Amino acid sequence: MLTREENDLLCEVGPGTLMGELFRRFWLPATLPWELPEPDCAPVRLRLLSEDLVLWRNTDGSVGAMQNACPHRGASMFFGRNEENGLRCGVYQVVVRAFYRVNMGNRQRALAVAMGGPW
Ligand code: FES
Repeated sequence: MLTREENDLLCEVGPGTLMGELFRRFWLPATLPWELPEPDCAPVRLRLLSEDLVLWRNTDGSVGAMQNACPHRGASMFFGRNEENGLRCGVYQVVVRAFYRVNMGNRQRALAVAMGGPW
């Protein structure tokens, strides 16, 4: 039988934990394509490896993902507007652009994140 400490070591997957660091080395299924059906559709919230995330489909069809907290003051980006290839925060209109492109044929991956605002 496992001790409480051993059980925690194997079951906790948050940032900085042993199993969390292991799982973050691999691609994980996060959502199904029909949950982000079309460009500029409503964003989706999910909790993955003990982290609250928001996903959206950009205007160009690529998928964006980030923590569900605006980089400015931490408001939920789930309530932002999905437009112009980014997610716009509803508070002070910070725009976050995040693109994940995956080509599984030759294992290419790319990630770009940019942020801008009216200030
Ligand atoms: S909290 Fe999002 S723009 Fe300030």
